[in-house]
Amino acid sequence: MFRKALISFFILGPVFICSAQQSGVDTPGLKDVYRNYFTIGVAVSPRALKTDEAGLILRQFGSLTAENAMKMGPVHPGEQEYNWAGADSIASFARQHGLKLRGHTLCWHNQTPEWFFKDGAGLTVSKELLLSRLKEHITTVVGRYKGMIYAWDVVNEAISDKADEVYRNSLFYQICGEEYIERAFEYAHAADPEALLFYNDYNETNPVKRRKIIDMIRKLKAKGVPVHGVGLQGHWSIYEPTPPQLDETLRDFVSLGINIQITELDISVYHKDEVASPYTEDMEARQTAQYKNCFKAFRKYGKEISAVTFWNISDRSSWLDNFPVRGRKNYPLLFDKDLKPKKAFYAVTSF
Ligand code: G3I
Repeated sequence: MFRKALISFFILGPVFICSAQQSGVDTPGLKDVYRNYFTIGVAVSPRALKTDEAGLILRQFGSLTAENAMKMGPVHPGEQEYNWAGADSIASFARQHGLKLRGHTLCWHNQTPEWFFKDGAGLTVSKELLLSRLKEHITTVVGRYKGMIYAWDVVNEAISDKADEVYRNSLFYQICGEEYIERAFEYAHAADPEALLFYNDYNETNPVKRRKIIDMIRKLKAKGVPVHGVGLQGHWSIYEPTPPQLDETLRDFVSLGINIQITELDISVYHKDEVASPYTEDMEARQTAQYKNCFKAFRKYGKEISAVTFWNISDRSSWLDNFPVRGRKNYPLLFDKDLKPKKAFYAVTSF
């Protein structure tokens, strides 16, 4: 089945290579500059691979993550229904161009289709039925990309942001308790024993949440659960984390002795709920300094960090546009809307 998708991609999916001057093809790409430190990746949609962004991706990045196409809802909209088209097109592009591929994400409270939690009578499923569905989902999805996806975000954002809660009170947690987390890792490992299995979360620079993440991973490791790495999403801003906060964050995660990846890096130019404003020189200067600080810290822990993945390709389009403030355009990445490197790109690549 996947082989057919691969053939159709070669025939139907022409790769649109942007012209050289758009992305400075004569300058070494991020992946080249960081070749001896860690893989540089980017989260993509199937559509982006058919536009001028494909050329930028090939010049700058060595790994892809499916931004949405491999999530539970998009790929498994009905109990007997799988939708592989988007995920296959990203996998085909990675294979065609020799890029590494990260899978995102096998178990996430957000975008889990409703059918997962309802039994035949429309009532809330039992723990047994939910775990058997989760096993079926993970086994099918991981099995399809076995040997192509080198690392999976197995469980995403299971830890609560509330100071008085450890686990997020999701339906997975309400029905199964914390057991769903270890089961998800066991199902993924059984489906592809070679894949690196990550726990992925955000707000990792918050010491209270970080402590909860680290304690959970230690507990899972002590039980022999195959957690190979931790994903620090890295949705930061020009205001935080400060260099000491980032250094303390990375130092704490290094103490786990497992693979560390920055999985969803972007640097917003606003405070969380700040009203929209033009992209000013001051914002750009702060963003340039923040990216410089971040990559200096990543290089310092380069032996423990195996990959840094940007969440979206360029300022042309980002999940931060209209989020959390509707109508607010953001400028969180290293390339502008015309795919040209910003000052922050040069701050990251010259050290
Ligand atoms: O594909 C449908 C389209 O058919 C429909 O017309 C449209 C309007 O309803 O929605 C489209 O789906 C949207 C999808 O992005 C693809 O664009 C969903 O509504 C929207 O909720 C979804 O947002 C994604 C979000 O995760 C929720 O899944 C963002 O693009 C994506 O960047 C964001 O990424 C997450 C990571 O997976 C986990 N870490 C946090 C990060 C940011 O929230």
